[in-house]
Amino acid sequence: MKYKDIEKSEKLDQVIKEMKNIFRTVPYGVDHTMKVLANTRTIMEGENVDCQTSCIIELSAVLHDIGSVEALRKYGSMEGHLQEQEGVPIARNILSEHNYEPFVIERVCYIVGNHHTPEKINGKDFQILWEADLIENMQVMDCTKDTETLRKFVSKKIKTQAGKALALCKYS
Ligand SMILES: [Fe+2]
Repeated sequence: MKYKDIEKSEKLDQVIKEMKNIFRTVPYGVDHTMKVLANTRTIMEGENVDCQTSCIIELSAVLHDIGSVEALRKYGSMEGHLQEQEGVPIARNILSEHNYEPFVIERVCYIVGNHHTPEKINGKDFQILWEADLIENMQVMDCTKDTETLRKFVSKKIKTQAGKALALCKYS
């Protein structure tokens, strides 16, 4: 690994540690987040993503649900828009503490702050995070009940070829 890559993965490990600490009372949160991170990596492999974009996607995966614990504490609800709202300042704090560049912080915060709102998807980075999260959440959705329903759902909701392949492979 190149020095820059080592530095990048060490910084990501620190952010993962912060995420695990925030989810310490909610083990499902850690488990889900790590699965979404793994999904983003699988999709990225097939999607020709540059280094900067992959950094943004991985950080967005690690932090996408980071507001859910605070939403529950403040409002007694983990509803999507509350998670988005509460997640942004927490993500911003963590990324600033670890000296990420301002444009990385802004982009990750945009994705975290809109990740339940597919109309706000405005780039490949956001698209990949959204698909990675959806693929994980499909396990509790009706769309996996039979092959025909699954295929229709995947072709309607998932745009990237690697995302489609991953969803079909997981649930067929
Ligand atoms: Fe999620």
